[in-house]
Amino acid sequence: MPGITIGDTVPNLEVQTTHGKFKLHDYFNNGWTIIFSHPADFTPVCTTELGKMAAYLPEFEKRGVKLLGFSCDDVQSHKEWIKDVEAYTPGCKVTYPIVADPSREIIKQLNMVDPNEKDSSGNQLPSRALHIVGSDNKIKLSFLYPATTGRNMDEVLRAMDSVLTVSKYKVATPANWKQGDPVVISPQVSNEEAKQVFPQGFETKNLPSGKEYLRFTNV
Ligand code: BEZ
Repeated sequence: MPGITIGDTVPNLEVQTTHGKFKLHDYFNNGWTIIFSHPADFTPVCTTELGKMAAYLPEFEKRGVKLLGFSCDDVQSHKEWIKDVEAYTPGCKVTYPIVADPSREIIKQLNMVDPNEKDSSGNQLPSRALHIVGSDNKIKLSFLYPATTGRNMDEVLRAMDSVLTVSKYKVATPANWKQGDPVVISPQVSNEEAKQVFPQGFETKNLPSGKEYLRFTNV
């Protein structure tokens, strides 16, 4: 069975975390949440990633976004590991919860398993999966990185800004877009509708096809 992906509702699983036991939808609380997994505690790339996520937490909080980490070890191991994470990234505090999943049941249901990585006992490990979950508990965006490639938190923040922007307006964000740059008007919006919806105006690029589909505006 294919795993959950964009458009799917995150199952309301009960999870054990460094902040106690809760159900995922209670944690989301009808807000935006980034859920992200790491292969294992006390591993090098994961240690750098957890610290960077903590360092970026104020930026996510400014946008009303919560974080929830996942790693397959147990809660006690996570708590010990956090000390290393905080020591490696000075000034960072891992104040977001980390889910424990020694049985791998949670990561399987959240489509966060790495098919290529196994621990020394042959158990599957989580991939570097990341789902941005909307206020309706549905996945809006997913990243999937192998264990050997650490993520760029600037890109996570940029992607977050994009999905928040497109949730508010009938627009999309072009290549290399960042917060404050012009956005493109969705192809489903006619020029007549665009004049109503974007009173600030929009610019249509002249293209060899003569088709008027590349329209920029500011929101
Ligand atoms: C790491 O976090 O460095 C890592 C974890 C599992 C496999 C490879 C690298």
